[in-house]
Amino acid sequence: IRIFVPRDVAALAVGADEVAGAITAQAAALGAAITIVRTGSRGLFWLEPMVEVETAEGRVAYGPVQARDVPALFAAGWLTGGSHPLRIGRPEDHPFLVRQTRLTFARCGIVDPLSVDDYKAAGGYRGLAKAIEIGGAATVEAVTKSGLRGRGGAGFPTGIKWKTVRDAVSDQKYIVCNADEGDSGTFADRMILEGDPFCLIEGMTIAGLAVGATRGYIYSRSEYPHANATMRAALDIARAAGLLGRNILGSDLEFHLELRVGAGAYVCGEETALLESLEGKRGVVRAKPPLPALKGLFGRPTVVNNLLSLATIPVILDLGAQYYADFGMGRSRGTMPIQLAGNVLHGGLFETAFGMTLGEIVMEVGGGTASRRPVRAVQAGGPLGAYLPPSQFDTPYDYEAFAARDALIGHGGLVVFDDTVDMAHMARFAMEFCAEESCGKCTPCRIGSTRGAEVVDRILAGRDVAANIELLEDLCNTMKFGSLCALGGFTPYPVLSAIRHFPEDFHRGRLPAA
Ligand code: NAI
Ligand code: SF4
Repeated sequence: IRIFVPRDVAALAVGADEVAGAITAQAAALGAAITIVRTGSRGLFWLEPMVEVETAEGRVAYGPVQARDVPALFAAGWLTGGSHPLRIGRPEDHPFLVRQTRLTFARCGIVDPLSVDDYKAAGGYRGLAKAIEIGGAATVEAVTKSGLRGRGGAGFPTGIKWKTVRDAVSDQKYIVCNADEGDSGTFADRMILEGDPFCLIEGMTIAGLAVGATRGYIYSRSEYPHANATMRAALDIARAAGLLGRNILGSDLEFHLELRVGAGAYVCGEETALLESLEGKRGVVRAKPPLPALKGLFGRPTVVNNLLSLATIPVILDLGAQYYADFGMGRSRGTMPIQLAGNVLHGGLFETAFGMTLGEIVMEVGGGTASRRPVRAVQAGGPLGAYLPPSQFDTPYDYEAFAARDALIGHGGLVVFDDTVDMAHMARFAMEFCAEESCGKCTPCRIGSTRGAEVVDRILAGRDVAANIELLEDLCNTMKFGSLCALGGFTPYPVLSAIRHFPEDFHRGRLPAA
């Protein structure tokens, strides 16, 4: 009997290893023949460690399981799906999963992340086989037709980026995966690295075929040691299985892939700073143009895509561009892996077609706050994203609908706050964060962020509040339009949205908490 225990860090953090140890020990004591399979997470974080037992009626989940629960679970007959207060039932019947459309995350939490056989049995490498069959030009066309847009946040059409690189003439081209997932409240990249690494390897190999690049790099972060270990192991397995290197899947396709780990600067998630870092230099933003698509890594044409964009490529090739494009609304096609975090009852990974309203996602899917107090604000798109109040919960989850409200989807993170949040302090935090993480290349961001934090301090102290709010708004405009990259350019979003939607918090005349 197979028992599936996640080893995603969200599960490890709440005792998954101890649970796996307790299951092994109890099975040995009872003489029960079981095999433990370590998987990624299905993304129902409040139920982790969520353990699944393979029974005659399929996989049956129990959670959140602690090591001390294990003897009672055996006694309740969980090896045959026996009833117990922790029994969840078949995972696919759980309301949190029933409401989802899992395309990018179809295998995450289900397969053994380091088993090529599992990956192939669950549809893996069908996308690459298709790409080999139709060739590079048709592959680019399929990605364009799918409507896939950059999942890092900017939403640039992936197919158009690929065409630019494909059409560039060069002796060497590169595929770079941006896995420097620095946004607060985001964890989707990490979940794929830990739960379905071959999906990324396949997606990057397809990208290499499509644009004529023989080398790729995954740029991950030092804060993700488990993810990096899994990815390294997956790369070794893929090389040994002939899925990387020369003559992939028996074709003349050549693709080499390596993992690189950054040292923790947020700005290295910006594509040009990332390229500098990959080249071994300090992560400072480069001026654009030239675009990385034409002059990127080591000055060569380079596809820089977010991990989620690349991990979505296999399913597009496998099931067809139209299949993917049929999901979504307006110009936001397909699905988005939304990450629910902060003060939320049901935090986790929720992949769905674009178009659900923010209110449905936060209140119905997320269940409101974990503190059971009213929701006051939701920050969408990371630390540089706007705060949306409940009065904007009718906003559809869609790139354009968010932009129309001066907000952004970003990398799909949603961080929920209850009514105890002080939005003036959150505005100060945005400026402070920018000052801390600024690469220092341009003045509006380098100096503006520090001055911005000082202005908020004056507001918090109740000094010339109206004049200082005006000054803060003016400073935000300078940063928004005068900064070289999104770090300085987007910091105004949380600040201005806090002033606009929560003006009462800027008139309290209190000093910031230490
Ligand atoms: P951008 O709009 O300058 O570019 C988007 C992408 O399209 C880039 O890869 C760019 O090189 C490419 N591109 C633009 N024009 C092109 C053309 N004609 N041909 C080929 N490629 C072209 O946006 P940027 O500065 O790369 O990203 C800003 C976004 O980053 C923001 O919207 C924000 O949501 C997001 N962001 C994401 C974070 C994360 O942790 N994932 C953190 C901070 C911001
Ligand atoms: Fe560097 Fe900030 Fe300017 Fe971006 S906006 S280039 S992070 S100083």
